[in-house]
Amino acid sequence: MIKNAQQVAAAETAPMSAAGQESAADKHIAPVPRISVQAFCETVESAAAVQAAGEDRRLGKAHVKVQMGGIAAAIEAYHNAPTPNVIMIETDARASDILAGLDKLAEVCDAGTRVIVMGRVNDVTLYRDLTRRGVSEYLMTPIGPIDVVRAVSSLFSAPDAKPVGRIIAVVGAKGGVGASTVAHNVAWAIGRDLALDSVVADLDLAFGTAGLDYNQDPPQGIAEAAFSPDRVDTAFVDRLLSKCSDHLSLLAAPATLDRVYDFGAEAFDSILDSLRASIPCVVLDVPHQWLGWTKRLLISADDILVVASPDLANLRNAKNLVDLLKASRPNDHRPHYCLNQVGVPKRPEISPGDFAKALESNPLAVIPFEPQLFGSAANNGQMIAEVSANHKTADMFRQMALTLTGRTESKRPRGGLLALPPILSKLMKRTG
Ligand SMILES: Nc1ncnc2c1ncn2[C@@H]1O[C@H](COP(=O)(O)OP(=O)(O)OP(=O)(O)O)[C@@H](O)[C@H]1O
Ligand SMILES: [Mg+2]
Repeated sequence: MIKNAQQVAAAETAPMSAAGQESAADKHIAPVPRISVQAFCETVESAAAVQAAGEDRRLGKAHVKVQMGGIAAAIEAYHNAPTPNVIMIETDARASDILAGLDKLAEVCDAGTRVIVMGRVNDVTLYRDLTRRGVSEYLMTPIGPIDVVRAVSSLFSAPDAKPVGRIIAVVGAKGGVGASTVAHNVAWAIGRDLALDSVVADLDLAFGTAGLDYNQDPPQGIAEAAFSPDRVDTAFVDRLLSKCSDHLSLLAAPATLDRVYDFGAEAFDSILDSLRASIPCVVLDVPHQWLGWTKRLLISADDILVVASPDLANLRNAKNLVDLLKASRPNDHRPHYCLNQVGVPKRPEISPGDFAKALESNPLAVIPFEPQLFGSAANNGQMIAEVSANHKTADMFRQMALTLTGRTESKRPRGGLLALPPILSKLMKRTG
């Protein structure tokens, strides 16, 4: 295995096949987080190897899907579908054709997706061209299951690997505007439509409704973690999660009043660190309060969604929130906002245009007031898409899920480069 830049340089003078041979037992392979891996193979042997890797204990939390058709099938598939955490592509093409194919794939590849290429060509120039394009790993075929396990694991366990998880904080500009409803429906869409493993953390410990909305009544949840910060690690948090659907789990609020929930500003730091390390997408349902810990959660999130309903108090509060968060996070995307409960009969409302002027950006969505639909969903413990799959608000939640996870439905070309930092030190080959 070629491990670092020096070895890459050394390999230029030595044939790749002679580079260090390392057996599976030589190196600890870390278990991977709850990622999605989709492979597009050319040969049944490689497909079988990836399939078998999916059964390996270290990939126990990953969702692995294997298809045939190589790079052409991948390009076709991702024209209209969001990309997973990891794409594996097998190609038996020549170097120039591999690169041309990858440039096409880059045009449909979402930010953050990592690409592993499997091929027969053994050539340093090709490796360099691949890493320049942001390809994370190159595996020489034929491959065995352990090669796949090791390659996927190394993407997430290297000391310089970026944490897998993205944290999206959702907060209301006022109480009762539907922030939790939006958070739960968006998270559900991330799990179902994007097939990204997600967790909703209900931070409204006394009154949170996530358990009701997902029809779950778990005995444990976020309170156990918040009250025992020293015990928090990935395994501990795993035990507190209750599964809502294939890709969605809940860290439920107790919603009981036998104790009070006065937390210090850093109470949730360790929980979030451990979620971020193992879950691709975490949606925080932040209650409408301005406390040390709510402010800290909002500022430290990767993306923020402020939910407002169209009146003056919401406009003022949303503007204050957006301004403060923008100033505290000068190098991040500005907070998103959406309008909810728009069009209440006979109610004078402030228009989306006026919101856009005051907040200097357009709302991510303008969700209509639909008491029948939202009322049935809330009372039945269902999501909007479960009550009415074709309703336009179900599609709005799906669109918001795409934007908030950095995925776009209309895929834009990105100048031929995959949106990945090249990892020169991660060139791999078959290890015998
Ligand atoms: N677009 C909508 N149309 C009609 N009803 C809605 C809409 N969005 C949310 N609701 C309803 O509004 C109520 C409040 O929603 P929700 O609990 O999500 O608000 P919240 O902002 O989280 O409130 P809190 O401040 O208590 O946390 C719920 O009954 C929900 O079903
Ligand atoms: Mg709420």
